[in-house]
Amino acid sequence: MSGEASAAQRAEELSLSIEQHNYQYYVLDDPLISDAEYDQLLRELQELEAAHPELARADSPTRLVGGKALASLSPVSHRAPMLSLNNAFSDEEVAAFDRRARETLEADQVEYACEPKFDGLAVTLSYENGVFVRGATRGDGYTGEDVSANLRTMPSIPLRLPQDSALLEVRGEALMLKRDFDKLNARQKAHGGKIYVNPRNAAAGSLRQLDPQLTAQRRLTFMAYGIGAVEGLRLPTTHSGQMDYLRQQRFKVSPDIRVVSATVGLLEYYADIGARRAQFPYQIDGVVYKVNRLDLQQRLGFVSRAPRFAVAHKFPAEEAITTVQGIEVQVGRMGTITPVARLAPVFVGGVTVTNATLHNEDEVRRKDVCIGDTVVVRRAGDVIPEVVRVLTDKRPADAREFVMPARCPICNSAVIRLAGETAARCSGGLFCPAQRKQALLHFAQRRAMDIEGLGEKLTDQLVDSHVVHTPVDIYRLGTESLAKLARMAEKSASNLLAAIEKSKQTTLERFIFALGIRHVGETTAKDLARHFGKLDAVMAAVEA
Ligand code: IVH
Repeated sequence: MSGEASAAQRAEELSLSIEQHNYQYYVLDDPLISDAEYDQLLRELQELEAAHPELARADSPTRLVGGKALASLSPVSHRAPMLSLNNAFSDEEVAAFDRRARETLEADQVEYACEPKFDGLAVTLSYENGVFVRGATRGDGYTGEDVSANLRTMPSIPLRLPQDSALLEVRGEALMLKRDFDKLNARQKAHGGKIYVNPRNAAAGSLRQLDPQLTAQRRLTFMAYGIGAVEGLRLPTTHSGQMDYLRQQRFKVSPDIRVVSATVGLLEYYADIGARRAQFPYQIDGVVYKVNRLDLQQRLGFVSRAPRFAVAHKFPAEEAITTVQGIEVQVGRMGTITPVARLAPVFVGGVTVTNATLHNEDEVRRKDVCIGDTVVVRRAGDVIPEVVRVLTDKRPADAREFVMPARCPICNSAVIRLAGETAARCSGGLFCPAQRKQALLHFAQRRAMDIEGLGEKLTDQLVDSHVVHTPVDIYRLGTESLAKLARMAEKSASNLLAAIEKSKQTTLERFIFALGIRHVGETTAKDLARHFGKLDAVMAAVEA
């Protein structure tokens, strides 16, 4: 056999093997080999494709690292519209949904397929002759954005289906697993990048952007929950049957789909999933009930933009009870003093919470929160939990009121609260190390000067050791000043200096935003940059 032929054969073997391991790991959650062994296979294929570019097929598993960046996302009109669901928030609303279905269908009992409601974003995948050709976001339900290049980096999306058909549109949710979300935010924090508030926002940000390599690094997962347009294929005639079909076609489908009858069956399902909610590897915000037989679905039809045959039964925001062990204040970038409740650790919304924001002094009074109180805390999608209310009947005799400090706990400057403002502020300005740290972090963040490596820990060190006072000092850093810092390896020092150097090549709008002027966010910075064009013109500007 010639070298070319054996290379082609080896590439084919590797592709098949990697696809199988992707399926085992990302769809079945049942890996057969170690990460190191998997990386080895992928590396061998990458090397082979680099040496023989003609072997690199569009659907090669090496695509998972992402292709070239795009200039824009183009619009796609959906063959079958992507509608939304009506919500039910109470048992009565669920009973009414079941009653209406039974009445319309003139049936004593209706069978429903129940499944979790994934908290991600809806996407549709089009397969022609069994090959993935396009994928899009929901958009307004009729026209979405073409995100095919990003979807191709998701290992849970098969690019070739075992069964061919002229057309198959698979609908589902693109989401970020909780563990991938935690990893992403840890990485973002380490280099001073944007911290995402929840997996849904992170998934949306990762899917609707132009660089597929970024999507690839952020690991999104696709959960299939429906079928759109179909041609040249006879599908099962129930929803649950269709989901079994998608499972056979190697899609990831919820293992928690159950078929039940009557309101009581729906409510039992809701209670069961609700009790296990925190253990799910991804966030869910409710359950969905769908009339199982598709002919009955058709008879029920749609009202405006939602089907009459399905409803989303939403979970209430997650709440838990704990005690306030103290109320401390945090100093923000503009000196804003935010009271924060220190809580006895409590597990809520899938994480252990030890702090909750109290927003400002008025809010502490309005909610009547005292140190020692038993409180209800809520974590609704956000990472910043809040105190919902105080259980005043549990207030101990020695509960203490919160007093806004007269002096900044960090720099001892006076705390002032201007008439008409809700926020109390430290008057120390950049003299205050807390404000200085926040100003530096703001300056260095990805959306501003984008200095990779200048994250929270390093900023703390630089400010606390008096090496950096203002952003200007960042540009005075050298190998020597960095060597003085504890735990700073030579390699990270040179990476940081390179990132600082690179940040000098930036745009005027990013620079203006980086300065952290009050009321000048990204949009205003863009407007100013467009109006003035050059930094000199901004500096020469006078009040009109
Ligand atoms: S079925 C006709 N099933 O919820 C609409 N949707 O509010 C069919 N969603 O845009 C949708 N999990 O993105 C369905 N198991 C599930 C779902 C689900 C999440 C989302 C979906 C849709 C939104 C509707």
